[in-house]
Amino acid sequence: MTLALEFTLNGRPCRIDAPAHFTVLDLLRDGLSLTGTKDGCGEGVCGACTVLLDGRPIRACLVLAAHVAGRSVVTIEGIEGDRLDPLQDAFARLGAVQCGFCTPGMILSARALLDDTPRPSADEIREALAGNLCRCTGYVKIVDAVLAAARGGE
Ligand code: FES
Ligand code: FES
Repeated sequence: MTLALEFTLNGRPCRIDAPAHFTVLDLLRDGLSLTGTKDGCGEGVCGACTVLLDGRPIRACLVLAAHVAGRSVVTIEGIEGDRLDPLQDAFARLGAVQCGFCTPGMILSARALLDDTPRPSADEIREALAGNLCRCTGYVKIVDAVLAAARGGE
């Protein structure tokens, strides 16, 4: 069975026919070739597939594509405007990216946090990113980057 899905993707209208069994991750990567959203564990554990659905972070591997109908999805490809998002800039400047596999999901979880809580504490950042696993950085530089982005890049 195929679904005709209409939703907003990175600020623009999107219409696509997708198999009914597709997850949001399948829809983005296989249906729309948006490979910035990473396929890590495929079972809701690693957070690499995190995208924003109506502004809230979801694990795209756990949500059926049918749930995006009529809603707004933001991926890492859509987070920047004319310039890098402050989080992208801070991650790059402060060494919070090593292999980069976790980075899109980290940045989208952090973006949802900063949209709700513009000046979070380090503990609030750690809590917001608790579902995003990183095998490389030890997390310290990631928390530092989110703090720097919240301070306007200082
Ligand atoms: S790929 Fe979705 S949580 Fe790991
Ligand atoms: S930078 Fe490699 S998993 Fe996070």
